[in-house]
Amino acid sequence: EPDTPLKDVATTFRVGMATIVNRLNGSHDEIYRREYNQISAEWEMKMNIMYPEQGRYDFTLADQLVEYAQNNGMEVHGHALIWHAATPSWVENFEGTDEEFSNMVEDYIKTTVTRYKGKVVSWDVVNEAIDDAGGNYRNTVFLERMGENYIQKCFEWAREADPDCLLFYNDYNLCWDKTKLNGVISKIVDNFQTNNVPLDGVGFQMHISYNGPSKSAIAENTKMITDKGLLMHFSELDVKINPDNDLTSSTEEREFAQKDKVREVVEVYNAIPESSKFALTIWGLKDNESWIPSVQGHDDWPLLYDKDFVIKKAHTGFLEGLQE
Ligand code: G3I
Repeated sequence: EPDTPLKDVATTFRVGMATIVNRLNGSHDEIYRREYNQISAEWEMKMNIMYPEQGRYDFTLADQLVEYAQNNGMEVHGHALIWHAATPSWVENFEGTDEEFSNMVEDYIKTTVTRYKGKVVSWDVVNEAIDDAGGNYRNTVFLERMGENYIQKCFEWAREADPDCLLFYNDYNLCWDKTKLNGVISKIVDNFQTNNVPLDGVGFQMHISYNGPSKSAIAENTKMITDKGLLMHFSELDVKINPDNDLTSSTEEREFAQKDKVREVVEVYNAIPESSKFALTIWGLKDNESWIPSVQGHDDWPLLYDKDFVIKKAHTGFLEGLQE
């Protein structure tokens, strides 16, 4: 019999799960409903799916995911309106003036956020807009066509569409990479707070490994955001146990280390100020559904359930991290 459900132990923040529409049934559905109270779409709520052709929106899949959440008392975290890696090709190769491009982006954001007003409680308005080199703006079609304040415009448009939804900036490696985090803080957090641009929180994706980053590094970087009075979302947690494709140490040794790392992450999140708590989201249910093996080019087991829906030590680590 499984332990106490995560959502019943995590009483001060949401426990989120990334899912896709064709998993909203069977054993997945059973576990989602037992354990989690917020879901993120792994891919159906991105621009390449919701706006496949100029002038033609397609919210079919997003609607299904939002309806499932509504039927099961779960929140939906909208991921993600603007992301260079999920931008439809017609947008990348947009034929028209920069002003027409900007108007198109405004229409897309307002159409989408308005559609889910009152149903999607929070949005990753922009994902991964700061580069890995020196914390500068990542060079994307949005930067090229709209200029550096495109990020501000996207947040303002989302706010105009829905006065109540929580607006997040989301990115990876922020939990350890100080240069990148300082880029986010200077170009987005401080910039927005100085110019009164709406920003409710920051998402640290948390794609980490069993052997790093350290708990202290994660806590230090987390504090740099919570000290700004913002909500913190650990938005895409997975913990690789085979990042270097070196299986010489025993599987059991790495699984215990993965459990410890999950516990550390939950302890850090659980310790942030109540006013900064939002959600801790896991990026997938079972190991064989993770995005990681195909992208890193070799196998890995980064999640809390194994391929047969069996709870792993890492899940126990999550529960242990919730103990005061
Ligand atoms: O199976 C569907 C197919 O039915 C559909 O016709 C097709 C349309 O593109 O998509 C197929 O699904 C794939 C989907 O994953 C489900 O497995 C998509 O091709 C594929 O692009 C998609 O990849 C996702 C990726 O983002 C791009 O959206 C990954 O699952 C997802 O884990 C990954 O997540 C990103 C976060 O959004 C941002 N942070 C990094 C993270 C990992 O890259």
